[in-house]
Amino acid sequence: MQRYKFGMDEVVTKVSILREEFARDHAYNPIEHVSSRLKTLDGVIDKLRRKGLEPSFDTIRETITDIAGVRVTCSFVSDVHRVFDLLTRQADLRVLKVKDYIAEPKANGYQSLHVVVEVPVFLSTGTHHVPVEVQFRTIAMDFWASLEHKIYYKYDRRVPQELLDELTDAAVTAAELDARMERLHREIRHRTPGGATRRV
Ligand code: GTP
Ligand code: MG
Repeated sequence: MQRYKFGMDEVVTKVSILREEFARDHAYNPIEHVSSRLKTLDGVIDKLRRKGLEPSFDTIRETITDIAGVRVTCSFVSDVHRVFDLLTRQADLRVLKVKDYIAEPKANGYQSLHVVVEVPVFLSTGTHHVPVEVQFRTIAMDFWASLEHKIYYKYDRRVPQELLDELTDAAVTAAELDARMERLHREIRHRTPGGATRRV
């Protein structure tokens, strides 16, 4: 588990560096917040059982890629793509899997951009490559996902249909808000105070 924690720390550092560089050199912050979490060993074993697999170190290494998780919340969808590109292009990372639930939202309305990257962790025993799951999303997507998650647990996964329908509808509203904020943001960026607007 220690290796996964170190891998997670490496990714958090990478994102923090990008955030600081943007704030300093571009006077702009594309990243609202960064959080990380490590799955517990019990959580990992539960997941293996759900998948019908024997809990062993080999199966964990081969099948569970979300022991280390990092979540990057951005203001705008364009920032989500920008930070995703800047991170996944780094030479020491290997992209193992991408799931773009922004291009193709889940049936319930869930949106986020997921990537599993493999990062090298340098220990006294040598170099170990560990997978880290990174979720990129906007504030609106995050707001929706955390409420959906809470409802899901409150109803012990048996959420009444009308509530599910309303959640899916709310996800559409959240996406509309994202599109609208993005449009406004672009307009403001190209506007000189008191001057004319240049639409892009
Ligand atoms: P898991 O077995 O849950 O890890 O699914 P997966 O391996 O198919 O990965 P996927 O990329 O679909 O989802 C990974 C993670 O994304 C989940 O652990 C959640 O943190 C988040 N996620 C995915 N779908 C949903 C959703 O419908 N609602 C919320 N709130 N979060 C979701
Ligand atoms: Mg997961």
